[in-house]
Amino acid sequence: MDFAERYGPWAVVAGASEGVGASVARLLGARGVNVVLVARRQGALDEVAATVTGETRTVALDLSHAEAASTLAEATADLEVGLLVYNAGADPNMSHFLDKPVEVWQGMVARNCATVVGATHHFGGLMVERGKGGIVLVTSGAAWAGGSHLAVYGASKAFNLLLGESLWAELGPLGVDVLAMVLGQTDTPAFRRVLNGRELEGLADPDDVARDMLDNLAEGPTFPPGPSPFGPLARRQAVEFMTQGSAFLQG
Ligand SMILES: NC(=O)c1ccc[n+]([C@@H]2O[C@H](COP(=O)([O-])OP(=O)(O)OC[C@H]3O[C@@H](n4cnc5c(N)ncnc54)[C@H](OP(=O)(O)O)[C@@H]3O)[C@@H](O)[C@H]2O)c1
Repeated sequence: MDFAERYGPWAVVAGASEGVGASVARLLGARGVNVVLVARRQGALDEVAATVTGETRTVALDLSHAEAASTLAEATADLEVGLLVYNAGADPNMSHFLDKPVEVWQGMVARNCATVVGATHHFGGLMVERGKGGIVLVTSGAAWAGGSHLAVYGASKAFNLLLGESLWAELGPLGVDVLAMVLGQTDTPAFRRVLNGRELEGLADPDDVARDMLDNLAEGPTFPPGPSPFGPLARRQAVEFMTQGSAFLQG
């Protein structure tokens, strides 16, 4: 089976209005897969959709809403979705836990955990019925260790990592490729907003991340493969390292 046969005819990209999700949408189009682009801003979705080869559909939706997964299921009910890429998930706040109202963190848990469960259960179930397909959950190096300013974000990324690894073990034998895609610091508009004008060397290019993701869909459970990004660091050292890193991002 070629790529479009295995992961088409349609893919859903959650978080497709900029950055890595937009790059993934364009690359999928180039590989012959039609794309449903999901994010909150209709105008930004339309702009990205205009750059994607093949058929597209846009769904303007806040993935932190309690009914987001069922809304997405309804919006794609007439399509055969062979690939789900759940990319939306960054933390625009980088705040201390107690410095934001609890609703902010609950919204992040809903977007990064509850809606991910709903969407993977829905689309994964349909893929298993067909005996083929793929699911990508985008996670982060922040999944491996806690740190100041990272409490709910890091915990939600650990959720994505372990959910992805577990679904790889469960759904892989049923024909569905699952990948937990671990991003390092990447040059997205959202991360640029966090940097707020500060320069940081070594940011990954979203187009390279998209290519790595799609080229390694069947090479799960995680990409990059290999051990903890913290190598031999003890957990306390890793937490101190993460805390220093987030202090830098605070400026
Ligand atoms: N950039 C990095 O350095 C980095 C590092 C490690 C991991 N990651 C991971 O990579 C993924 C992408 O990160 P990113 O930097 O591109 O930022 P992001 O804020 O996750 O933005 C990606 C996309 O998600 C959409 N989105 C955000 N919140 C949404 C919501 N509530 N409902 C619907 N769509 C929503 C955004 O569009 P709208 O604003 O139009 O909704 C955008 O299209 C995330 O999962 C993040 O955890 C990023």
